Amino acid sequence: MNARIAAFLATSLTIALPITAAGADVSGEKVFLKCQACHTVDGGKGRIGPDLQGVIGRMPGDFGRASDAMNGYGEANGPWTEEALDKFLEDPRGTVPGNRMAFPGIRDSDDRQAVIQFLLDNPKP
Ligand code: HEC
Repeated sequence: MNARIAAFLATSLTIALPITAAGADVSGEKVFLKCQACHTVDGGKGRIGPDLQGVIGRMPGDFGRASDAMNGYGEANGPWTEEALDKFLEDPRGTVPGNRMAFPGIRDSDDRQAVIQFLLDNPKP
């Protein structure tokens, strides 16, 4: 193979690969960009919302400054599950009335599943 063809192939590959990767699946990390203004997943203190590392399995409202609404939801429903998170993220205000998360929700169920998977992939170490 001559050098020009090799260079051409190398260029097409670097262009083609990211496009394929982005087109195939919704990336949970990308959906989490919507949450990042208020949440972290690094085990730290979080921002205006709590850190979400290991949130699945944890009691709703188990963080400083949680609203009574979030604590009450936890008392009534138990720890966060994937199903509970799916409902909450679809309609935060309808699912936990009176909670303080100023976020309208995610309509697309694939996007919700992707961000839930992202949270599952970020457990407590
Ligand atoms: C504008 C800020 C903001 C955005 C954006 C936001 N949240 Fe929140 N979130 C909050 C606040 C504030 C709370 C605490 C609510 C309360 O105590 O009533 C919260 C609570 C939560 C909780 C409950 C945590 C616990 O430990 O019980 C989860 C889960 C959550 N958010 C997930 C998300 C996800 C996932 C996204 C992105 C798709 C998101 N949030 C976007 C501010 C935000």
